[in-house]
Amino acid sequence: MTDKERPTAHDAEDDPRNRNIKIFVNGRLVPRDQAVVSVYDSGFMLGDGMWEGLRLYDGRWAFFDDHMDRLFDSCRAVSLDIGMSREEIAAALAMTAEANGMTSDAHCRLMVTRGVKMRPFQHPTLSRSGPTVVIIMEHSKPVDRMEGAGIRLATVPQVRGLPHAQDAKFNSHSKLNCVIACLQAEAAGADEALMLDPHGFVNTTNSCNFFIVRRGEVWTSTGDYCMNGVTRAKVIEVCRANAIPVFEKNYSLYEAYGAEEAFLTGTFGAQTPVALIDGKAIGDGTAGPVTRRIRALYEDLVSAETSR
Ligand SMILES: Cc1ncc(COP(=O)(O)O)c(C=O)c1O
Repeated sequence: MTDKERPTAHDAEDDPRNRNIKIFVNGRLVPRDQAVVSVYDSGFMLGDGMWEGLRLYDGRWAFFDDHMDRLFDSCRAVSLDIGMSREEIAAALAMTAEANGMTSDAHCRLMVTRGVKMRPFQHPTLSRSGPTVVIIMEHSKPVDRMEGAGIRLATVPQVRGLPHAQDAKFNSHSKLNCVIACLQAEAAGADEALMLDPHGFVNTTNSCNFFIVRRGEVWTSTGDYCMNGVTRAKVIEVCRANAIPVFEKNYSLYEAYGAEEAFLTGTFGAQTPVALIDGKAIGDGTAGPVTRRIRALYEDLVSAETSR
């Protein structure tokens, strides 16, 4: 397998329709090959922006309110005025989905940056013309990893830092911290990075949240140093509602290596089984019984939410 063919947590089946999608750029729907932002854009220059990944199921955006809570909280924390209400964002998503004929199996990247700068420097007050809002919506069916082999993780030197450096809860345009971690994992022959927290406890991966299963219990990190993932929260919710013991706690690689099952969570792939951590096999390398049960409960929750 060449480097380009390695699996990632975001592998989707190739869909030729995506070559001709329309992209929402500041209120206009533009063909993909003409959808551009300024080289002076704060997002391009500095990674100064926030984004959300959402999935469309049966004409409804799953957990839309949770995604909006996170986006509005993040933008508020960095004084980025989105310039749109939640209802206006919902209308923009609907308009983009309709223009692309999408009702299900679509993934959206909603991006908001501080907008075009007057001059190519850092100061936020140089961004005066208002935000840049882009919606990329693609036909997207994640490759089903519940049947085949899971993802290979490698623990990397890059950590998710303390919240007073750059809070891991910011879904910021700059993902350099995550990209560095992913490069380190690739160099170690893995698909995705397992990142520790500043104290050395197991934390998250470069693009997803991380769970292990030990003796029937589901463990994930305290949540202090990772993305407050919507899928993470929903997994904890379905475990609690169905008497599956679940704990947000500190644990180390010692316990991760001895896990019976491990899986990643994210809006794109829902729950993705882990096959290897630092070369050590987890279970038989495919989704174990607890991961499967959680996946089924999560699917039920998505169906309930999107049929309301
Ligand atoms: C670093 C990181 N962790 C976890 C997640 C998963 O979050 P969610 O479940 O809300 O998609 C994301 C998604 O944006 C992410 O970027």
